Amino acid sequence: MKEYILITGASSGIGYEMANELAAKGLNLILVARTENKLQQMQAELTEKHGNLVKYFAADLSDANVAKELYKKVKNENLLVTHLVNNAGIGNYGSFTETSLEVELSMIQLNISSLVVLSKLFAQDMVSRKSGRIMNVGSVVSFLPMPYFSVYSATKAFVKAFSETLDAELEGTGVDVLSLYPGTVDTGFTTSEMQTTNLHKTKPMHPKDVAIQGVKHLLEGNGKKVVGFQNWFNTKLPNFVPDDIMMKIKKALASQK
Ligand SMILES: NC(=O)c1ccc[n+]([C@@H]2O[C@H](COP(=O)([O-])OP(=O)(O)OC[C@H]3O[C@@H](n4cnc5c(N)ncnc54)[C@H](OP(=O)(O)O)[C@@H]3O)[C@@H](O)[C@H]2O)c1
Repeated sequence: MKEYILITGASSGIGYEMANELAAKGLNLILVARTENKLQQMQAELTEKHGNLVKYFAADLSDANVAKELYKKVKNENLLVTHLVNNAGIGNYGSFTETSLEVELSMIQLNISSLVVLSKLFAQDMVSRKSGRIMNVGSVVSFLPMPYFSVYSATKAFVKAFSETLDAELEGTGVDVLSLYPGTVDTGFTTSEMQTTNLHKTKPMHPKDVAIQGVKHLLEGNGKKVVGFQNWFNTKLPNFVPDDIMMKIKKALASQK
């Protein structure tokens, strides 16, 4: 059986760059996202450039049942997933009373429910093989929940809590659960509204730089990895700044310029 790394959200941004980094290392990939033609194009390009095996599945993971079907399709094709990267995620910005409930419910399904489904199903196989790695993509807001990103922040706080506890639970099984926490990154994730906030005064990171660190963490790391020194430092601020002051700072940062 050939070994594969499965990446969700592989068609653009951080996932796209991680797929390219992994392919350059000669690793076989299963790419997942909604946009089939982008996945098809990536398959052709990566195979031609690096000669590795690339499969893809077009799937809308804003329905957790689709995540269950995805797992079945991977099994039916006899593909052995040694590494799972739960990267697909969406966010939204705005006052909670004005943002779209439909978008937020989809976000919870994608950022939380499908991540749990894929983690459970693939972790069960990994534990029985006594080997495997799962990396979940959180965000700096997993540590620093932001006003106007309330539901998104809560989904990413879930990712952190889930990844840390599952990693502890699986200690000694041969399966590691890692997590990656980028700050602002220049991808299609960032809407024009988000760009009007004070958060975007600092230059966002390039997704390739995030992917290089993400791939290193996936292949060699342990536990949590916050990407970039400034982001790492910011995640430590709640240890010495009182909660109410911290929230005022975050509200000012997340407000529009
Ligand atoms: N960009 C940032 O500032 C930032 C900061 C911290 C953390 N992150 C996290 O990094 C991860 C990747 O984000 P990114 O910045 O690379 O964003 P991106 O460029 O928008 O990429 C998101 C990826 O997820 C896929 N996707 C979106 N909705 C999906 C769905 N319903 N089902 C399946 N796939 C779906 C997209 O492909 P399709 O549209 O083809 O489905 C795309 O491949 C996310 O978890 C995000 O929360 C981003």
